[in-house]
Amino acid sequence: MALSLSDIERIFLERGHRAYDGEPVSHLLHALQTATLAERDGAGPGLVTACLLHDLGHLIADHPDTPTLRGIDDKHQYFVLPFLRGLFGKDVLEPIRLHVEAKRYLCFVEPAYGRVLSENSRRSLLLQGGTLPILVRLLRIDDGGAEHLDHTEQRRLDDELRDAAASAMQDGTLAKRDGKAFSPALLATAGRRFTEPPDDQESERVRELLELRLAIIETMRSRLVEISSGGVYSTVALRHALAELDADQLSLELRLVDQEE
Ligand SMILES: [Fe+2]
Ligand SMILES: [Fe+2]
Repeated sequence: MALSLSDIERIFLERGHRAYDGEPVSHLLHALQTATLAERDGAGPGLVTACLLHDLGHLIADHPDTPTLRGIDDKHQYFVLPFLRGLFGKDVLEPIRLHVEAKRYLCFVEPAYGRVLSENSRRSLLLQGGTLPILVRLLRIDDGGAEHLDHTEQRRLDDELRDAAASAMQDGTLAKRDGKAFSPALLATAGRRFTEPPDDQESERVRELLELRLAIIETMRSRLVEISSGGVYSTVALRHALAELDADQLSLELRLVDQEE
């Protein structure tokens, strides 16, 4: 799985010319622009390398066309890490792992930045978990005052998301982040476990359960993307549901990272 420098060069040569997820720029140009800007900003070699490679995961995952249009978040910031671990240290890997969270954070604290994102980048932001309100809440940054939340509406929306998750579990469309299938035994016994917090046992089964919960959150997030353009639910309810999914996803991802280390 580990790549060599010449493997990375080959990937850029073979796939770097592709358009970046529907943007008017190629993958290679995006990588070079990002690294150049970092270099101009006085960043060190680790960060410049991270900038060059931050989206390499897209090219390795190799989803055709524009995955966000099909509701797919390829998790490229995590997916790429095992491929690069043999070559680079934390000074390169950590900025790559965190670059999506950084964008989510920046969009929340600097709404003007969010407004200049391209349509595709805004779509991927929603799939990646919106503007990180959970982190902002943890840091006690004011979001401009709470709007009134209608609890009946919220319950209705939560039910919709749970229905989407339940049917995804039944029709067998859920997959782990690496695309592999969940074991049928786990799916058969998991039942409504996804509504309960995960336990702390460090076993493969727990790990798979965490992966399953993550996949379910993805399903709920995709449903939320569909629902949000329908005009049925208020922005407050949608934002609240998104914040709940963010909180769940963040804690699950942290637990999975802990297990990997
Ligand atoms: Fe990225
Ligand atoms: Fe990028």
